[in-house]
Parts: sequence; structure tokens; C-alpha cells
Amino acid sequence: LNNYVATNEPIFDYKKNSPEAVKLHATLKEFLSNKKENCDALFDVPIVIGDSEFRTQNAQYQVVPFDHKTKLARFYHADKNLINDAIKNSLSVRAEWENSSFEYRAGIFLKAADKISNEKRAEILAATMLGQGKTVFQAEIDAACELADFLRFNVQFLSEHLKYKPLDVADHTKNNMELRGLEGFVAAVAPFNFTAIGGNLSTAPALMGNVVVWKPSDTAVLSSYLVYKILRECGLPAGVINFVPSLGPDFGETITQSENLAAINFTGSVPTFRWLWKKVGENLETYKTFPRLSGECGGKNFHLIHESADIESAAVATVRSAFEYSGQKCSACSRLYVPESKWPQMKEKMSALIKELQIDTPLKFETFTSAVIDERSFDKIANYIEYGRDSAKLVFGGFYNKTNGYYVYPTMFETKDPKDKLMREEIFGPVLTVYKYKDNEYDQIINLVDTTTPYALTGSIFAKDENILKMTKTRLRQACGNLYINDKSTGAVVNQQPFGGARLSGTNDKPGGPGYLLKWASPLSVKEFL
Ligand code: ALA
Repeated sequence: LNNYVATNEPIFDYKKNSPEAVKLHATLKEFLSNKKENCDALFDVPIVIGDSEFRTQNAQYQVVPFDHKTKLARFYHADKNLINDAIKNSLSVRAEWENSSFEYRAGIFLKAADKISNEKRAEILAATMLGQGKTVFQAEIDAACELADFLRFNVQFLSEHLKYKPLDVADHTKNNMELRGLEGFVAAVAPFNFTAIGGNLSTAPALMGNVVVWKPSDTAVLSSYLVYKILRECGLPAGVINFVPSLGPDFGETITQSENLAAINFTGSVPTFRWLWKKVGENLETYKTFPRLSGECGGKNFHLIHESADIESAAVATVRSAFEYSGQKCSACSRLYVPESKWPQMKEKMSALIKELQIDTPLKFETFTSAVIDERSFDKIANYIEYGRDSAKLVFGGFYNKTNGYYVYPTMFETKDPKDKLMREEIFGPVLTVYKYKDNEYDQIINLVDTTTPYALTGSIFAKDENILKMTKTRLRQACGNLYINDKSTGAVVNQQPFGGARLSGTNDKPGGPGYLLKWASPLSVKEFL
């Protein structure tokens, strides 16, 4: 562990007839014919607490977003009693886990990373493609690469933290700082849109010696369960992470009422994070410690184009950022600012690109993007599109159809009102709104970019003029947590661009960077008098 150095997992391209593509096609086929006995879905996913599986009366289904008649997984919601049992069970193994060596814990997660990058890669991709509607490329960079990267780089970051040695100034004292886990349990609440995020929300605290009660997203339950099973197969002791699908309010109320709540590691919406924070506030006198709250809560991310920009590449980057995975990345660009003189070129290039893209099932590997996650999301996005038809001008797209899958086509609106709700609210779908500004108003536009939304997650500036870049970057310092220059606002890579936003986008603890791990440690300083 001492000098462990991680490298980013290579990305396979799944070219036709490549061994990876052949294997993945076969795995997808197997998954789709995996009819289980006594189950009206392709897979059955239990709740797991310690070594026991539970199936409650409250059965739920994860459906295939691009073919919603296909039930991918049957799973079960834990009630409050079971959630409490999961907490108790975790606490019962906490001391042993926390006292185990870093080498032992790291070994488990490194083994899991290798398994994900090798023999389990096709399975975890298939679960992510079928369950979350990701194309092969989007599943690859998430469920194979980012997930393995989180596991490996967290071990590297930990080894770097362990090297810290406090000063010994007097010759009769010896000082040390030990990294302990938090006293209590960590609750991990995961989103649907990245298999890797769910994996990291639960494993990063566990690596540091914590026990974790993990509520996976209902719409990512199969891929999350596979991650959980891989961890167990690689030696994770029972109870260190308990796998507890449940209704958000039941989970939130139960964890926040436990006196042993040590932390919440959350990715989801602002209202849910605020609700959890309020619940923690209401119960503050109950707790044995001050729970740590870490949240990543979405964004309304910008691409700001200056007149000196290379418009062709800005157009490609914008199409990718706004429409890959149908705009369901928290980092996706959803507001675009273009100078009037460049708008015709930008619009033409983007419209031409969109015409070439295939919006279809991810089972065809050439598909650019597929259906959105579920009906609730589909309806919400459709409402924004209908609203946009009245409030703005449709540039392309505007169709949606849920006959077989929850398809929403890449849609772009042009608005005359830079503060319209299309420019302010997170839609979490393939809807991009552009505001065209007068070339000589760039200065005011920077202020507008900074003040239009309460979020500050990602943003991109496109310009060739070095002075403009420098000035814009300085003025937008607080407008995002991940800033890109002449590149799209999505696709942060572990230990290349540690990820996270400020303002209402979250607590900016930067998973994928070294600081994140200290959130899950309660260091002990030891002074020894010799
Ligand atoms: N890490 C993801 C991205 O940057 C959220 O797109």
C-alpha cells in the first residue's frame, strides 16, 4: 500500500467484431433471456443485510427504459424496521472493520477493481445499458472505467494521506496522527445516472474504516447489486456495506433518527438534500456526534462562447455535452450563450450534427443516445418542451414518444429572455436553451452567466483570445466547481478532474480527488512523551 500508484482504466471502443464487443453482445443476450423461476422479471434483487437476503411484500420493478414492457429486475423496498436492522447489523461489525489494517481493506477494493475491469466488465456494462439506458460508450466510461478508477485512486489517495507525519520538535516527544473511521454509520444515497457514483458513495467511506448503509437508486438497482456482489466476492465482510433499496422518505427518516448517524454521502436533488439536512437539524440533540453531510445536487451548466472561439469545435462539444446520455448527467450543458455574429454558423453545425445522430436502442452499438430513465422523468421533460414551445423558439427536436421506450429527442430552444426558466431550472433531459447576445455585450453576459441560476457545478468557456479567457475565468471563479476551457462540460475523469460543485450544486467535496477521503476520517492525534 505504501507507494501504490493507480492509473486510469483504459477505455475499450467495442468496434464491430472486437472480442469485447462480441462478449458484450453475448452478455446482453444472456441478460435478456435470463428468465428466473418464480420471478416475473429477468433478475431478482434482494435486500442484503449482513449475510441474509430479504424479500419484503413491497416488490418493485426496474424496467428497461428503451423497452418498458421488459421488466429487468424485481426488487424489494425495505421498511423502516429493516432499515433499522441494517443499521444495527452494520454497527455490530464496525469495530472489527475499523481496527483492521489499511492494507487489508485496500486489498479488497483493489481486487474488486480488477474484477470489474476484467471478468465482470461485460456484466456490469450490460446491467448499466439495460437498466439505465446507457449506450455502450457511456456505460464503458461509467460502470467500467470510472468505477474501477474510484476504487484504485482512493487507495492511492489513502496511501498519500498515510504518509503525513506531524513534526517532532522536542527530542522527548513523538507525534503521530492516525486515521480512524467515523464513530457510527455512514448512509449512502445514490443516483441512477452513474453506476460508478453509487459504488464510490459506499466504498470510499468503507475504505476509511466506516460501515455503510447503502440505498441504491431504484432505477439503477441491478447494476448496483452487481457492484455489491463483486465487493462481497472480493472479500468485503458481511455488514460492512449493507444493500438496502427503500423508499426515500423511509430511508431518510430512519437514518436521521438514529443516534449513531455519523455521515450522509448523497447524490441527488437539492430538495432531497435540503430535506435530509433539515431532518439532521431536527434530530441534532439525538446524535452522539455531528453528522457530516456531503452532497452533490445537480446543476444548470453553461457553455459560454466568445466571438474568438473555434465555432466548429464548440458546436461538437456542445452537442456532446447537452445530448450524450440524453442530458442526464449532472454535468450536462443546458444553457448556451453565443454571440450574434457566430450564431448562424453554430446553429448550422449543431443542426447538421444532430441529423446524423442515431437515437435508438443501446443494443445497437452505433446509437448516440437512447431513452430517458423513466416515465416520471419523461413527463417532466415533455412538460418543459411544451412550455418552451410557447416561451421560446424551437430550433430542432421537440418530439418525444413513450410507446415502447421513454424517448425524448435532442431539443434546442432559442430564448430572448436570458432569465427564462429554461435557462434557470434543471431539466435533466436532452433540452438545451440558447441565448444569443450582442457581440459587444460579452462583459454583461459574464455577469448573467454567474447570476442566472443558484447552481455552480460545471461550465465551459470557448475562446481563442488569451486575455478574454483569463478575464472570464477570473470572473466566473465561483460559478462552477469544474471549469472547462475550450472543452465540453461533461466527462470528468477520476484524479484528472476531481468533480463537484459549489453553491446549491453541493458541498464540493471532490470525489475523484484526495480531499474526499478525509471527509470519512476522524483523525486521532497522538503525542507520546518519551
Ligand atoms: N463525472 C461526470 C461528468 O463529469 C458526472 O460528466
